[in-house]
Amino acid sequence: MSKRYLITSALPYANGALHLGHLAGAYLPADIYVRYLRLLGKDVVWVCGSDEHGAAITIRAKKEGVSPQAIIDKYHALNKNTFAALGISFDYYHRTSTPLHHQTSQDFFTTLYNQGDQFDERVIEQYYDEEYDQFLADRYIVGTCPKCGHEEAYGDQCENCGSALSPLELINPRSTISGNSPVLRETKHWYFRLDKHEAWLREWIAEGTIAGVPHHQAEQWKKHVVGQCLSWLDGGLQPRSITRDLDWGIPVPLPEAKGKVLYVWFDAPIGYISATKQWAQEKGLNWEDYWKGGDDVELIHFIGKDNIVFHCIVFPAMLRAHGDFVLPRNVPANQFLNFEGQKFSKSRGWGIEQHQYLEEFSDFPNKEDALRYALVRNLPENRDSDFRWDDFVDFYDKELADNLGNFVNRVLVLTQKYYDGVLPEVQVDLSEELLSVRRLVEEWQLEIERFSFKNAIQLVMEISSFGNTYLQDKSPWAIWKTDPDSEEVKECMFVSVQVVALLAVLLEPFLPFTAPRIREVLGLAPVAPGELSATLDKVAAGEPLLATGHRLGEPTVLFPKINDRKDSSRLEIIDRQRLKLQEIMEAEQPITAHEPVKEEIQYDDFAKLDLRTGTIVAAERVPKADKLLKLSVDLGFETRTIVSGIAEHYTPESLAGKQVVIVANLAPRKLRGIESQGMILLAENGEGKLDFVSWTAGFGNGLVVK
Ligand code: 2FM
Ligand code: ZN
Repeated sequence: MSKRYLITSALPYANGALHLGHLAGAYLPADIYVRYLRLLGKDVVWVCGSDEHGAAITIRAKKEGVSPQAIIDKYHALNKNTFAALGISFDYYHRTSTPLHHQTSQDFFTTLYNQGDQFDERVIEQYYDEEYDQFLADRYIVGTCPKCGHEEAYGDQCENCGSALSPLELINPRSTISGNSPVLRETKHWYFRLDKHEAWLREWIAEGTIAGVPHHQAEQWKKHVVGQCLSWLDGGLQPRSITRDLDWGIPVPLPEAKGKVLYVWFDAPIGYISATKQWAQEKGLNWEDYWKGGDDVELIHFIGKDNIVFHCIVFPAMLRAHGDFVLPRNVPANQFLNFEGQKFSKSRGWGIEQHQYLEEFSDFPNKEDALRYALVRNLPENRDSDFRWDDFVDFYDKELADNLGNFVNRVLVLTQKYYDGVLPEVQVDLSEELLSVRRLVEEWQLEIERFSFKNAIQLVMEISSFGNTYLQDKSPWAIWKTDPDSEEVKECMFVSVQVVALLAVLLEPFLPFTAPRIREVLGLAPVAPGELSATLDKVAAGEPLLATGHRLGEPTVLFPKINDRKDSSRLEIIDRQRLKLQEIMEAEQPITAHEPVKEEIQYDDFAKLDLRTGTIVAAERVPKADKLLKLSVDLGFETRTIVSGIAEHYTPESLAGKQVVIVANLAPRKLRGIESQGMILLAENGEGKLDFVSWTAGFGNGLVVK
C-alpha cells in the first residue's frame, strides 16, 4: 500500500486575528509541503481549524463584553477566510466547538480513564477569586515568572522565557479578572501520568526508535526541536492536570466532575483527529486509514516553537496511551518571526495582521505571492528571523521582477516574435544543455523533503538565474537579426521555454498565484496533481516538457517593479507601512523628535531681544477664544498684560506663581481687543507638549536674561 500523509498545522485560538509571524510559523511552510506532496500525486490530507476553548477565548469575550460564542464565530470566520485568500490550502479547517470534536475528546478521555493507570485523581489547593467566585486557571492568573522575572507570566506558561509553569509557582500572583490577590481553595482534578511515558519518549526523541524498533530518523529532526524536548525530559516529566474549573469547554465525562471541563491543551490536539473525521466523512473515506494506519502513515505536525512540548511530548504520550494511533514522524517546528527588529505586538500596533495586509495591499500587484515570497525567503526555520519592508522590496524587485519575471517575459516575447509563439523543431541534447538545472532540481527536492523551504526557493531562483545567463550568453537577438532561420536561435528558445515550463511546476508550492499565470502564458492549464512526478522524470531523462509545435500564450508582466520612476503607486503602498512604524516609534520616543534648526542669525539680531524674568500673578480665559489666556506678569518694576495661546495646555488656576521668561521689548499687539505687552517663552517637546522656559526661584523678577 502506498504511503498516506497526514499533515497538521497548529489550531490557532479563535480569539483574534493572525499576524505574519503566525503565517511564517505553522501555515506557509505546511502549505508548501502539502502542495509539493499533492504535485507528486501523494495521498495527503492537511487539517487545521480553530482552537475554541480555554481562557484565551473567555478572557477576550469579557474584554469585548460579548459571549465566547460571538468571539469564536467572528475569529473563526476571519481566520479561515484570510488563510484561503492567501492560498493556504487546508483540506479541512474545522472547529473545536463542534459536537463531533466534543464527542471525540470525551471518548479519548474515557478510553484513557478506563485503563485505570493513565490518570491520577488529586484534590489540590488552587487559587480562587473570591470577588468573582471562580477558580483561576492558566491565563486567569498572572504573576512574576520564577525562572526569568517576567512580571506578566501566566499560570500555565511564561511567554517571555517559554517555561511551563503551574499557578502556585508564580510570585505575587493576581487574578486577571479582578486584579485581586487570590486565595487558595481545594478542588479535585485529573492528572495525566506523563511520568509513566518518560522512558519511551526519551528513546523515541533521542534515537527515533521505540523499544529498539526504528520509527523515524532522529537526525532528520531539527536540532532546536530535539534540544527543547531533551531538556524537558532531563527535567523529569510530572503528571499534568488535564481538567479545569471553568464553564467554557468540553465537560469532563465523569459524573463526579460536574462544572469541570477538559484542559484546552488536552482537547486541542485531538482537534486534528476530529477534523480528519469530519473531512473523511464528507469525502466518504475512513479516517482511521490516516490515524491508525501504522507504518503506512507519515504524520507531520507543523507548529511554532512555543508548541513543541505539547506536540513532541504530551500529545504523543496521549496517542500512545490510547494505543492504536500513529505518532508524528517529524515535527518541523519553526522559531519566531520578528517584525522590523522587534516582537509583533498587537497593543503597540507593531506588525501587520494577515487580513490587514490583504486590505492595505489590495492594489498591489500579485500581493499574495509577493508576501509569500518575502516570508519564505526569510522563514525562521532554525532561528528567529526578521521581517523588514526593505527586504520585501528587494526580494520583489531583484528576485521576482528582475530575475524571474524578466526571464519569463523575455523568453515569451522572443518566441512570439521569432516563431509566432510556436515551438520550433530542434536537434538538441537537453540532458547536456540542462545538466546544471537537473542538479538544482534534485537539490530542490531534497531541501523540500528536509523541510528547508528557504533553501528550496533559492534553488528555484538559481534555475531562473541560469535561464537569464543562458539567454544572455546566447544573445539570440544578435544572430536572429541577420539569420532568422538560425538553428542556434531555435535551440536557444526551445531550451529557454523548457526552463520556463519547469519553473512553473517548481514554483507552484511556493507561489500558487503566479505559477498558474506562467502556465497560462505558456499555453497550459494549471498543474494537475501528480504532474511533478512526470516533470521530474522528464528532467532526469533529458526530455522536453513542451514539445515542438506547442503554441504559447501571450506574454505578460508578472511583477511590475516597486521602484519604478514612472509609477510610484507600489512604492507608496510600502511607504505607508514605513510611515506607520515611524509614527509608533515617534509617539514612544517623543524626546528625541526635533524640528530642524532655523537659519543662522548674527549676535546683533539676538541682542535686540530684551528677555526678562517675571512671575505670573493672575490668569483668566479670554471670552470666545479657546486658545487664549490673559496673563498678568510681574516684572518687578511693572506688571504687564500678556495674551498667550496656551489655554489648551494650561488651566488659568495652574498658572499663578509660575516663573517665566518674557520678551519685554516686543511691540504691543491687540488680540481680541486686549493689548498684549510682550510674549512668554515656551518650548514644545516632540509630543507637542508645552513647557515654560523658566528660571530659578531666588533670582527675582525683572532680571535681564543673558
Ligand atoms: O498556541 C496556540 O495558538 C494553540 N491554540 C495551538 C494549539 S495546537 C493544537 F494542538 F491544536
Ligand atoms: Zn519566564
